[in-house]
Amino acid sequence: QDLREKYRPEFHFSPKANWMNDPNGMVYHNGIFHLFFQYYPNDKIWGPMHWGHATSKDMVSWDEQPIALYPDSLGYIFSGSAVADVHNTSGFGKDGKFPLVAIFTHHNPVLEKLETGKHEYQSLAYSLDDGKTWTKYSGNPVLQNPGISDFRDPKVSWFEPQKKWIMTLATKDRVTFYSSPDLKSWVRESDFGVDAGAHGGVWECPDLFPIQHNGKQVWVLIVNINPGGPNQGSAGQYFLGDFDGKTFKPYSKETKWLDFGTDNYASVTFSNTGSRMLMMGWMSNWQYANLVPTHPWRSACTIARELGLKTVGKEIYLTSTPVKELDVLRSTGFNEQNVKVQGQLDLTEKTKNSTGLFRLELETKNTADFSIVLANNEGNELVVGYDKATNQYYIDRSKSGKIDFEKGFGQKHTAPRLSKDPTMDLTLIADAASVELFADGGLTPMTDIFFPDSKMSKLYIKSISGTTLKKLGYSVLQPETKS
Ligand code: FRU
Repeated sequence: QDLREKYRPEFHFSPKANWMNDPNGMVYHNGIFHLFFQYYPNDKIWGPMHWGHATSKDMVSWDEQPIALYPDSLGYIFSGSAVADVHNTSGFGKDGKFPLVAIFTHHNPVLEKLETGKHEYQSLAYSLDDGKTWTKYSGNPVLQNPGISDFRDPKVSWFEPQKKWIMTLATKDRVTFYSSPDLKSWVRESDFGVDAGAHGGVWECPDLFPIQHNGKQVWVLIVNINPGGPNQGSAGQYFLGDFDGKTFKPYSKETKWLDFGTDNYASVTFSNTGSRMLMMGWMSNWQYANLVPTHPWRSACTIARELGLKTVGKEIYLTSTPVKELDVLRSTGFNEQNVKVQGQLDLTEKTKNSTGLFRLELETKNTADFSIVLANNEGNELVVGYDKATNQYYIDRSKSGKIDFEKGFGQKHTAPRLSKDPTMDLTLIADAASVELFADGGLTPMTDIFFPDSKMSKLYIKSISGTTLKKLGYSVLQPETKS
């Protein structure tokens, strides 16, 4: 492996070179998952945005494709979504073939300097060759800016009961819903959020979709926020409620967090996946994204997660769990029951894992502290654990290797345990430079990146007071080797 590639994720998407941020336009079409992403092809730091492109059959192994959208006279290509316009409402279709349509923000840096607040507006591009090449619509922009300085990241979906498109747009301190019969002409329906949720930063990258729960349709409104996350910096919040094609009525105005780690931002779902809701985010944080010590690229996406809903007491929460497609990565491992941990259980020999890429699953009672420690010969440690006294999960990366590139990076992040079940289950997925924790069936997810001085090939489970793991499962994760 090229030394410069030291922190290259093995089963998360990352561009071959240069800067990436938000996943954009994620759409499933003809058996292929398309991922577009905020991309600056000329440098490792944020710059004039393009839409990069990658494709995958399983959301696990990705092939990078040529750049899909370049900046133009209307501006940089900021975040947005893509839909399969199966009824050809836009009229972009040809010879019986329906178009894929991308709805994105044009961010105009020249206008921005004039400070009119009108430098972001929404535009379209379409593809008639299954996402390979894209043509920008000659009538761009399709939604002008009324003078709101942050007016971006359109997420569009089809609202079947009224046979119209709904655009959920981030508009500074709220989201605004628009509707359209044809993706080209939009009318404002309502807005939500000025008096709800977290407002420690600007609202960005929203999403709106229904999930069936106990025979009822629950609408999920995701709103990313930067900064102001639960462990600082960028993060995703969500609200649950009803949506009637015009207005979103939340069950509660209080924020719920999509992920309690610091490295899952701009998370939104794929379109055209039926009732399966699949989400991916940008595995970084604006607090230090431009500084992370990777070369020659910067940033990766999270693994794809399947979303669901779960009732805890009187509250409903969103759950995120790793998609089942990830199972193709499982290689050698073991499954054990009633494993006693007193002090420190060294699993290094048993796991025989020189790569540090693994999936660990455990089940235990919530009666004692315990932690899972990833370590290496350099003395780096990444600690994932449960603290009984505060009833919190945590990820501590303060001794995880390179942390000095930004003062807030080397910290311990905490998350409340939301489940009331005395039995807890944890799934932990480790790649070269990230851990993704899914606790209690995905009620409490945490995503953190880290940069160890060498591979985290040692693994321990610790419990000072002692505990018994009812189940302990482990698999080495082995990415497909590309030909
Ligand atoms: C979120 C974001 C979006 C914007 C894009 C610009 O990370 O700030 O709001 O469209 O990134 O790259």
